[in-house]
Amino acid sequence: MLNRFSLASIRRISTTARCCSDKNEPDLSDPKTLALHKLYRPERITPSKRGIDLLKQPGLNKGMAFSLHERQYLGIHGLLPPAFMTEEQQAYRIITKLRQQPDNLAKYIQLDSLQDRNEKLYYRVLCDNVKELMPIVYTPTVGQACQHFGFIYRNPKGLYVTINDNSISKIYQILANWHTENVRAIVITDGERILGLGDLGTYGIGIPVGKLALYVALAGIRPEWCLPVILDVGTDNTELLNDPFYTGLRRKRVRGPEYDSLVDNFMKAATKRFGRDTLIQFEDFGNQNAYRLLDRYKGEYCMFNDDIQGTAAVVVAGLLASTRVTKKKLSQEKIVFLGAGGAATGVAEMCVRQMMDEGLTEEEACGRIYMVDIEGLITTSRIKSLGERHVKFAKDLPDTKNLLEVVRTVKPGALIGASTVAGAFTEEIIREMAKNNPRPIIFALSNPTSKAECTAETAYRCTNGAVLFASGSPFENVELNGKLYKPGQGNNAYIFPGVALGAVLFAEMFIRQNLYSVEYDELINKTYEWPAKDSKHGFPVPVLRRTSMDEE
Ligand code: NAI
Repeated sequence: MLNRFSLASIRRISTTARCCSDKNEPDLSDPKTLALHKLYRPERITPSKRGIDLLKQPGLNKGMAFSLHERQYLGIHGLLPPAFMTEEQQAYRIITKLRQQPDNLAKYIQLDSLQDRNEKLYYRVLCDNVKELMPIVYTPTVGQACQHFGFIYRNPKGLYVTINDNSISKIYQILANWHTENVRAIVITDGERILGLGDLGTYGIGIPVGKLALYVALAGIRPEWCLPVILDVGTDNTELLNDPFYTGLRRKRVRGPEYDSLVDNFMKAATKRFGRDTLIQFEDFGNQNAYRLLDRYKGEYCMFNDDIQGTAAVVVAGLLASTRVTKKKLSQEKIVFLGAGGAATGVAEMCVRQMMDEGLTEEEACGRIYMVDIEGLITTSRIKSLGERHVKFAKDLPDTKNLLEVVRTVKPGALIGASTVAGAFTEEIIREMAKNNPRPIIFALSNPTSKAECTAETAYRCTNGAVLFASGSPFENVELNGKLYKPGQGNNAYIFPGVALGAVLFAEMFIRQNLYSVEYDELINKTYEWPAKDSKHGFPVPVLRRTSMDEE
């Protein structure tokens, strides 16, 4: 029987997309590994499709890279221009054309149609240019694409499960309509909180599609193992309801027991169809559902909520990396959060766990964390209206909605934004942070760029370059007084592909709660020399090929 290690090796070897690290290449001088490699290496299989049907199949199409023999054998001779082009030549042509596009949305549309035509080439271009193209297929451009999805839509990507399909059998039927049975990872959203852009209904399908593109490009997971899903329960966005091009159900959002039973039926149908070890990543669910669904399903299915758990892992990793500069333990810092939704609360809870690991009691750790939501600072006077997750962070302080006042009173070492409020970290607030800290930590995590709590330029300028800054969406480098500052990016994209790869390789039945901390401890302490070697990065890079993300 195969043990876990060999199963992992098999899956790694069988992964067609580029492996996440050259170090992970199998050692073929070892006869046992070589035998396994030979046994499980991808075999040449004659495709079931031929002729024009084959060219219309994005997973099989190679464009002009088909050899003469392949063209004759597969019945496509004469259907393509007579010249031959290697994948590299085609990739060069694509990236050159892409760079000539007038804006990022045009680039997104071009890449989207390439994915429709020739999946191999799409991933070749994406893998070779991750740093350049991640802001296109992912935040911030994917947000813009979702907002304009009605215009952009050409070909369906992913599955649509609506509230009208609310039974296990009906959902199973839909899942059975997907072109492959061999799905190992699903990214699902209900479109209610797409980035910081709010309720975009079915226009939110761009998010699961983009996240799964990163599964392939960053973690080397096979494209055919990935399934993007949108649950269409309606939308409360009246602009969309009046949009003639809107692609979803024209009704208000369904909530309550009917909504819950749809999610429940989906989880049952998906695992019935694809297996109990299918990974289901929850993405961009609204505040009222994100934590609830995570709590309900985390012990029952192989699932995680990326906004809560992924963000927490990456941001705590960033905070720990920052402590190497501030020379203070995390448990010695006070942290103010603007926003107390899924993302901020997930980070706050993981900070508490980290501070407890460093020796504080839970009460002491919670005492160092201050949360400000749309109603203002979370204080004891609000306890009756607070959810159970927030009660422990309530402070015995006067109520205020003024963030500057909170910063002046608390004098935090770190200020973290996950509020969707663009510009909420005003120059005055940033200067106040710099007054109280030689190296203030400021993370403006809200996506896309237009929603960031402050820009990198403002953060560096107002702190005279002292800030340890990161943002959810990437910012350009900032030049200040003749020095170049490279803003960090604090985005869960630095972790979710790695988590997914682990879950898929090991056919996990659950995502263990301590998985994330194991991940960043190892990374920060062993592989990531921060800041001496890598001061330009705010964060460890768990799965991305380092060379693809590093600047020379
Ligand atoms: P959410 O809807 O669960 O929470 C938003 C929070 O912001 C709520 O607590 C709300 O009360 C608060 N808020 C809204 N307006 C406010 C105001 N004027 N003043 C103070 N607080 C205000 O959303 P979630 O999931 O927490 O995401 C929030 C933002 O964080 C989004 O822009 C999202 O794109 C971003 N995010 C970034 C991630 C990253 O990896 N960088 C990952 C997950 C989310």
